[in-house]
Order: sequence, then C-alpha cells, then structure tokens
Amino acid sequence: MDIRLSGRSALVCGASKGIGAASARALAGLGARVVALARSADALREVVAELPGEGHQALVADLSQGDALAAALEPVLAAHGPLHILVNNCGGPKGGPIVEAREEEFLAAMQNHLLAAVRLSRLLLPGMREAGYGRIINIISTSVKVPIPNLGVSNTTRAAVANWAKTLSREVAADGVTVNNVLPGFTRTERLLTLMAGAAKRLGQTPAETEAAWMRSVPAGRFARPAEVAAGVAFLASPAASYINGINLPVDGGRTGCL
Ligand SMILES: NC(=O)c1ccc[n+]([C@@H]2O[C@H](COP(=O)([O-])OP(=O)(O)OC[C@H]3O[C@@H](n4cnc5c(N)ncnc54)[C@H](OP(=O)(O)O)[C@@H]3O)[C@@H](O)[C@H]2O)c1
Repeated sequence: MDIRLSGRSALVCGASKGIGAASARALAGLGARVVALARSADALREVVAELPGEGHQALVADLSQGDALAAALEPVLAAHGPLHILVNNCGGPKGGPIVEAREEEFLAAMQNHLLAAVRLSRLLLPGMREAGYGRIINIISTSVKVPIPNLGVSNTTRAAVANWAKTLSREVAADGVTVNNVLPGFTRTERLLTLMAGAAKRLGQTPAETEAAWMRSVPAGRFARPAEVAAGVAFLASPAASYINGINLPVDGGRTGCL
C-alpha cells in the first residue's frame, strides 16, 4: 500500500496545536513538505521546528480575514509551487444554547470554517489539477451525523461545510482530486478541555465528573489522542486513498450511534 507523500506539499490550517498540529506531524512523517498556518507565531514556529523532514514553513495568518489570507498565501505558492494537500481546520465555535447564539457568532463561524475552506480550495485547486493530485480534507465533527446538544453554531456550520465538500468532491474527482471530511470524536486538546470546563460549570459537576461521564459515552472508554485523528487525515491524503471521495470519516472510538 502506497502511503508515502514524498514530493507532495501540504497546507495545514489551525496547525499551532491540537488536531491541526498533529496532522502537520503525520503528513510530514509520511514525507510531505508542510506549510503550517495559524495566528500564533511562536506556537506555530515550535510545531514547525519539530516536524520530521525538511522544507517546512510557518504561515502566520487569520482564517477569518479572507483577503489577507489570500495575500499571505501568494508568495508561498510562488515559492513552493502547487500545494497538493489542503487540511481545512480552525478552532471550533463557542458552545451554548442555539436560542442564545447571536447572528455574529454564526457569521464568524461561517467565515472561519466554510468561507476560508472555499477560498483556500479555489486558490489551491488549479495547482492540484495541474499536478493530477489533490487532497482536500476538512476537519469537522461527528455533529454532521448526529447534532451535538449545546453546540448549535458548530452543528449548523459543520453541515454547511459537509455539503459544500460533497458537492465539490463530484466536480473535481476526474482531475485526481478528492475531498473528504474527518469527524473527530472527543479528542484530548485545548478545545475539549474548554468544552468540558463549560459543561461542568453548567451542570454543577467537577471537571473530573464531567470527564468520566463523557468517557462513558465512548465505546472505546477513552478520549482520542490528536495523533489518532491525524492518522485518518494522513491516510486520506495518501496515494492509497485515491478512490475514497466525498465521505465523512468518523474517528470517534465508536461513539456516534448511527451509520
Ligand atoms: N477536540 C475535540 O474533541 C473535537 C471534537 C470534534 C470536533 N473538533 C473540531 O476539530 C477542530 C480542531 O479541534 P482542536 O481540538 O484541535 O482545536 P484547538 O486545540 O482549539 O486548535 C485550534 C487551532 O485552530 C487555530 N485557529 C483558531 N482560530 C483561527 C483563525 N481565525 N485563523 C487561523 N487559525 C486559527 C488555532 O491556532 P491559533 O489560535 O494560533 O490561531 C489552533 O491551532 C475544531 O474545529 C474542533 O471544533 C474537535
């Protein structure tokens, strides 16, 4: 099975920590040259410095600023040539009851997740098509299968991304480009710790009680390590996944209760 990514370049968004940083490590581990994007310059440089292999680069940019994002990417494309792999990933929207979510929260989430992915894909697709090799992988959520209570803005935005991705996958398939979604379950990152702290407060529990309750909902009996989610990303990015297109891949320890 061919999972090597030598000679391939990847843009990984939200790569300063969590699932994005782990994805950068997994792709670099298979031989890809990685451009790691996020807002925090120092954290990003630390991630890039520790990536295996050579030619990696930090790109400090904000996914919410579409025009500035495109401008920041221009010199990278000029220097690197085509970026064959795009991992669309950004910090998750704030939780809370959907009736209380403000319109600005929906707009911000759509900007960071849907519109950033749309913009980056448009910029990278010509190079992918020319190379006859492209992999667009969106980190979204199991909420596209079963909406998660108290994450209404996220649920709404992920559904939009999943439908955009499915539509795009059919338009670019004949050019050697695939578009797939990875749906993480509970994964031990800052995002999860923030959500657990919020839930504990709301329910009048200790953080340890909330953690134990959440773990009981996972058949595997534990949370994922970011590297386990990144393994799904890396496989979908590889030559071996060439005929897998337009899918949602849950990486959730069996938690999602539907097919
Ligand atoms: N962890 C879980 O259990 C879980 C479960 C299901 C779904 N997910 C989803 O998976 C995605 C990744 O989760 P995670 O747990 O790895 O999150 P995380 O630890 O909060 O990391 C988020 C990453 O996104 C970057 N980021 C945030 N806003 C950005 C912006 N405007 N522009 C550029 N980069 C930005 C952050 O870096 P900077 O702050 O440096 O910009 C960071 O690198 C999220 O969408 C999350 O909702 C996570």
